[in-house]
This record gives sequence, C-alpha cells and structure tokens, in this order.
Amino acid sequence: MSRNFRRASAAVLAALTAASLVACSSEQAPQSASGDGGATTDTITLGFSQVGAESGWRAANTKSIQDTLTAENGFELKFSDAQQKQENQIQAIRSYIQQQVDVIAFSPVVESGWDAVLEEAKSAGIPVILTDRAVDSEDETLYESFIGSDFVEEGHRAGEWAVEQYDGEGMKMVELQGTTGSAPAIDRKEGFASAIEGSDIEVLDSQTGNFTRTEGKQVMEGFLQKYDDIDLVFAHNDDMGLGAIEAIEAAGKVPGEDIKIITIDAVKDGMQALADGKINYIVECNPLLGPDLADVATKVVAGEDVEKRIVVEDAAFDQEGAKEALPDRQY
Ligand code: AHR
Repeated sequence: MSRNFRRASAAVLAALTAASLVACSSEQAPQSASGDGGATTDTITLGFSQVGAESGWRAANTKSIQDTLTAENGFELKFSDAQQKQENQIQAIRSYIQQQVDVIAFSPVVESGWDAVLEEAKSAGIPVILTDRAVDSEDETLYESFIGSDFVEEGHRAGEWAVEQYDGEGMKMVELQGTTGSAPAIDRKEGFASAIEGSDIEVLDSQTGNFTRTEGKQVMEGFLQKYDDIDLVFAHNDDMGLGAIEAIEAAGKVPGEDIKIITIDAVKDGMQALADGKINYIVECNPLLGPDLADVATKVVAGEDVEKRIVVEDAAFDQEGAKEALPDRQY
C-alpha cells in the first residue's frame, strides 16, 4: 500500500472517528491509530529509537511506548535501543528510512548533530516526532512535534525548593549531571543555577554521572573523598541520587540528614527513598509519553496539523507527599 494511500485512508478514518465520537460518548479504551480504541483497517508503522535502558525513568518510558503502540491500537512498532550512543540512533533512523516506515520517533541521546539524518528523513517524506528530549536544529521543519517535559523548569523548581529550605545556612553542594550534551543535563543545570543565584548555596563541584546509578555512586564517592563539607547533592535524576545514597552510607554519613539530596524523576525507587527520608525533595519528570505519541503520530500520518511543542505536566514531592503518592504510583 503506498504512503499516499495510507495517509488518505488515515484521514478518512480520522474523520469517521470524529463523527462517531460525537455520536457516542462512553468510556474509551486506550487510544488507537483510528482513535476508536478498537480494530483498525490500516496500520501505522512507527520506527522508534530509544536512548537506552539507563534508568528507572527510561524503563517506564519504554513500557509506556510499547504498551500503547500496539497492533490492537493500530500500530506496528519497530523499536530499537541505542545503548546511549548517538551513532546507534542515527543507524536506527537510517534503517527506518530504508524500511519506509510511516513515521519515525526518537528520544535524542544528545542535542546536537541530527540535521543530516533528519534531512534524509524529510527527503524520503517520512515525518519525525521527538519525544522526551529536544534537538538543537535551527530548522524546525525537520520534525513535526516535540513531546516532553520542560527540563529548565524542572531544574528551576528543584533550585527554588533548595533556596526556600536552605538559604542562609551557607550550604555547600555538589551536582551529579546527566549525560553530557543531553537536553535534560544542559537544561536542568541551567534551571537550578538560575534559581540559586543570589542565595548563599555554594556549588563545590559538578560532574556527569551519565544518568546511571553506578556512575552516580562512583562520582559521589570521588566527591566525598575530595570534600569533607558537602551539605547538599542535586542529582539530575533519581538513579544517580540513589547511587549517591549508597556512597554516602558507605562513607558513614546519613543521606537526607547529614547530606540533603534533591533529585528529578519521581520513579518508584526514588519515591520510596524520599518516603524513607533518604532523599529530601523530588521534582517529577513524567515518562508516560506513549499516549501522546500515538495521538500525534496518528494525526501526522493523517496529514492533520499538530502542535510543534507539547509540554508534559510534572508534579513535585516532599517526604510527606511521597508517602501519600506511593501507593498509587504507576511507575
Ligand atoms: O530525558 C529524561 C531523563 O533521561 C530522565 O530524567 C533520566 O532518568 C533519563 O535517563
């Protein structure tokens, strides 16, 4: 079946679906390619290149995508794990172009260096959707939409809380950054720094822990050997914060008390550590992007307009908030 025919069929389906939605209002099954939650007559083939499996957040994000883009919902999902390597993502995208998928989606491991492969997708007439992380391409026609959180805002909220709680105490902090060159590492660092500017919180050091628990622990061990006066850790994700907890405990200190910890993500393990008093504050980063991706992909394939930027809403939790939220936490 040609792509033009697929797009025309998808447009007809979308129109029929809209009409049927007006006619009947009832509880809907998960979104489908036809939007009706049931069987579809045309399947959307979507090639997705995931960053890797570096964190609990990433596992939840992958699950959301795989659980939503199902055959039952009208999708054929081609999924690849880039193991945190940009060259693997570029290779996967090129393979999806060769396979002439209907739409490509990916979460770019780093911000830069995508223009050439995005041009190739555009020349092949295959639309691209960014999920979770942004690219720094100046040409915004290279992708249809970017679905994800506002990482600068996440970092800023974390910094604001630190200032509210600790300004005036002369606290010294270290930062565990995410993957070097990635949008969340760049933006969370910037957001946090802008929030603590003018306070007396002093940044002793800042290094990457690559968003993993293992590297977060290793970098924290190094910080603890180098500085004996660390009061606060800002980790760009829960996993690095959990690694830092292990390093702090091994050094004979009490996480959450001797050394305060602020993280981002709010996955179950992080929330449990927050409820247990080992983390002090977490700003959420919502990983459940599958439904928005399905919706945007369906519209794009149908030739409908979509929003260029879809910002996902995030909450934030202190220790009491974590205790309340944990029983119903999905991820
Ligand atoms: O891009 C989102 C970030 O990537 C999450 O905060 C982190 O846990 C993940 O690895």
